[in-house]
Amino acid sequence: MEFQNILIDVNDKIATITINRPKQLNALNKATISDLNQVLMSLKNDNNIRCLIITGSGEKAFVAGADIKEFAHFGVEEGKKLAKSGQENLFDLIENYPKPVIAAVNGFALGGGLELAMACHFRIASDNARMGLPEVSLGVIPGYGGTQRLPQLIGKGKAMELITTAKMMTADEALQYHLVNYVVSSEELLPKCIKIATATLHNSPKAINAAINAVNAGYNNDVNGYNKEIEEFGNCFGSDEFKEGTTAFMEKRKPNY
Ligand code: CAA
Repeated sequence: MEFQNILIDVNDKIATITINRPKQLNALNKATISDLNQVLMSLKNDNNIRCLIITGSGEKAFVAGADIKEFAHFGVEEGKKLAKSGQENLFDLIENYPKPVIAAVNGFALGGGLELAMACHFRIASDNARMGLPEVSLGVIPGYGGTQRLPQLIGKGKAMELITTAKMMTADEALQYHLVNYVVSSEELLPKCIKIATATLHNSPKAINAAINAVNAGYNNDVNGYNKEIEEFGNCFGSDEFKEGTTAFMEKRKPNY
């Protein structure tokens, strides 16, 4: 697979997707969102890929936001369409992805960039990362889910402060707010993500998918999370992987998924 705006590296069932517009600080233009959508759709049912890492190219930025130059001349309807299509084609797709998606935040993650990191299942940052939702400084608000996911992740009060002041957080502040799980040096960032991704490879892919669905259900107003958990839990009992996992336990060996 070759794309204009992203690079893909596959190693031992882990796909690392690098957004590759370093001169524009990896800003998310329409073409990049389309590339990301295509690669995510194509890997979704690929059994050779079990965990994904998303990062940015260069030393400066993860993603510095939606591409301001591309939307600066938009009107109201185009603005709504931009947010809706971005949310549906990329951000919701990642959040509900059946395999763990880890954001390796290697520098600026601003606006749509932080929204991309927040749509991922969890985040690991390098110590030079700077994160924020500066949209109100541009006369607009976060449109790729930021007003919803930031309060979910760090609480409403702190999210309101960050959104209304448009201030950036350091990586250590983001760690303190539990927005990122770990902060490591730039050199350690991908190795740390790969180490965690590798730990997921030992586990049942079907159970991981079910767990992601159940956790996400708790954040969906239309679904009862506990009922979803019951349903997903029960469904696991019908899977070959459940048979393998429980048999392996009783046979005192590692399961083979
Ligand atoms: N969109 C388009 N281009 C961007 C960009 C963005 N979000 N962020 C950076 N760039 C471009 C710059 O225009 C510049 O390009 P040129 O050399 O062609 O002029 C290049 O990347 C390098 O950027 P800077 O010269 O500005 O680098 P810096 O080190 O001085 O500053 C920065 C870095 C603080 C991240 C600054 O680039 C910046 O503030 N970027 C914008 C951040 C932002 O506001 N993001 C939110 C976007 S709106 C959004 O995301 C809406 C949404 O929710 C859907």
